[in-house]
Amino acid sequence: MSQFKPRVFSGIQPSGDLHLGNYLGAIKRFVPLQDTHDCIYCVVDMHAITVWQEPEDLRQSTLELTAAYLAAGLDPKKSIIFNQSQIKEHAELAWVFNCIARVGWMQRMTQFKDKAGKNSENVSLGLFAYPSLMAADILLYKATHVPVGDDQKQHLELTRDIAQKFNNDFAKSIKANGHDEEFFPITEPLIAGPATLVKSLRDGSKKMSKSDPSDMSRIVLTDDSDTIAKKIKKATTDPEPLPSEAKGLEGRLEAANLVGIYAALSGKGVDEVLAEFGGQGFGAFKPALAELAVSELAPMNAEMRRYLADPAEIENILRDGAGRARPLAVQTIDQVRDIIGFVR
Ligand code: TRP
Repeated sequence: MSQFKPRVFSGIQPSGDLHLGNYLGAIKRFVPLQDTHDCIYCVVDMHAITVWQEPEDLRQSTLELTAAYLAAGLDPKKSIIFNQSQIKEHAELAWVFNCIARVGWMQRMTQFKDKAGKNSENVSLGLFAYPSLMAADILLYKATHVPVGDDQKQHLELTRDIAQKFNNDFAKSIKANGHDEEFFPITEPLIAGPATLVKSLRDGSKKMSKSDPSDMSRIVLTDDSDTIAKKIKKATTDPEPLPSEAKGLEGRLEAANLVGIYAALSGKGVDEVLAEFGGQGFGAFKPALAELAVSELAPMNAEMRRYLADPAEIENILRDGAGRARPLAVQTIDQVRDIIGFVR
């Protein structure tokens, strides 16, 4: 039995247009966890500035992401919803973790390698240390479970390594300060089923991304119904009809992506979707998918706009969430300071 109270933490960066990948891979999955766990959902604005953000855009993206959280059904009465930069302790714990984690660990991160490309000497130091801040987000609240997409699995493993190394390096002091041996939990990922990683509508080998130059490659949460339908209709596919079992999607990346999106939107399994559409071509499947996508996204879109019409109210919600997160954060950081040997 773990001594840790089950607690969920997750975060999304407010850096540009939110797309279907963010929604299906993250936000939509956050909602039901509110009924079974203590949840903390963060807008990670300090992660966003690891690459350049226009200040006005960052402010707007923070409000939009919060509006999307609320419109999707995250409830500030059930969960703590706040933006990272309001709690200084994230930065403080990240510094401690910078002194725990090894340079080699960071160099192995595939997301860093992808983002830095050939230009790795010239990216910000923050981008390199990004996973250390992510570990701080999670461990500041001693979160036991983190719902993330497949692409974040490696960062979560690094979080576990940092927790482990902290627990080991400071074992004596942790005990001397009256804590259980396992001071930080070894956090588990909650990786979900289909479409945890939504792919580009143009190329099924790439993930759906805000940085793809083609607008047609992604559905953004502010797209109107006609645009959503058009993007689905124009999505790249192959000429074969759909198979009647998941096995038949092997090697058919674009088909698998669209079926995965249908499954995630409808809450059905891939096999269930294929039982319905197996044998049919994309001429029949795409309109059904478009209708489903519009029926789920249009009301959310309207709700987001309603929230965004009153930014002060969104700011109140974030401030209130920060007010509830702060005592938890302060408690952990004070314990950490004592364990390390900082005089306070
Ligand atoms: N790195 C995550 C992403 O890009 C965002 C993130 C930051 C996060 N801190 C987190 C996710 C803590 C889960 C838990 O998607």
